[in-house]
Amino acid sequence: MRYDTLAISRDGAVTTVTIDRPEALNALNRQVFTDLADCFDRLAVDPDTRAIVLRGAGERAFVAGADIKEMVDMSAAAAVARSWQGMLLYDRIRHQPQPVIASVQGYALGGGMLLAMACDIRVAADSAEFGYPEIRLGIFPGTGGTVLIDRLIGPGTARAISLTGERFPAERAYQLGIVTHLVADEALAAETGRLAELVAGYSPVALRELKAVLNASLELDFETARRTELAAYGRTFASADRVEGMRAFIDKRPPRFEGL
Ligand code: CAA
Repeated sequence: MRYDTLAISRDGAVTTVTIDRPEALNALNRQVFTDLADCFDRLAVDPDTRAIVLRGAGERAFVAGADIKEMVDMSAAAAVARSWQGMLLYDRIRHQPQPVIASVQGYALGGGMLLAMACDIRVAADSAEFGYPEIRLGIFPGTGGTVLIDRLIGPGTARAISLTGERFPAERAYQLGIVTHLVADEALAAETGRLAELVAGYSPVALRELKAVLNASLELDFETARRTELAAYGRTFASADRVEGMRAFIDKRPPRFEGL
């Protein structure tokens, strides 16, 4: 896979996708959205990829938001179309069969914080900074950003973050649940790698079904969500991987999950 705006690398069953525009603090322009969508689609059907890491190039930013230079002369219709493109990308990541881990150093602002929040696991370096600065530009996080942060951290603080546009440190993001793992700057790569390898070692069937029920539980009423979970559990229990996982436990050996 070759892209203008992304660098892709593979280490065992872990594929790392690096947004590669450090000169613009990895801002999301149309090409980045297009490349990420294509890349995640291809990885979704790649049996050799069992976990995905998403990061930004350079040390200064994960992603500093949507590309303001590209947006400045956009019509409202074009901006809405761009927002759809963004929302579809964030949906893709949520529905990606493999776990997706955001590895955040530097700025994760606006669409960048949103991109991180769409990932399943969010590891951040101590010095990372988060925020929704859109209000300073005369807009707001209109790419599903208000809805996603509401669901993730609750409406009270989400409101303050969106309305003030102030940046806040990784420690605060961790307390709020925007970040799931907080580490010293120098430990970011190692901790990201450890988590990616950990989840890449689990059954792809169980991971896929688990992500599907976690997504469904956000959208369905309580009873329907529970029934959906039960059906997914049944499919997981019927997998060869489940037999392997339990046999391996009893035999006191590491399991070898085939994704079947
Ligand atoms: N879009 C385009 N270019 C950007 C950018 C962005 N979001 N963020 C940074 N850059 C560019 C800068 O223009 C600059 O380029 P030049 O060297 O060509 O001037 C380069 O990256 C380095 O940035 P700074 O010189 O500004 O670096 P700094 O250390 O002084 O400040 C910063 C860093 C605080 C992150 C600052 O760049 C900033 O405030 N960036 C904008 C953040 C923002 O507003 N994000 C939200 C965008 S809107 C959005 O995301 C909408 C949505 O999802 C719906």
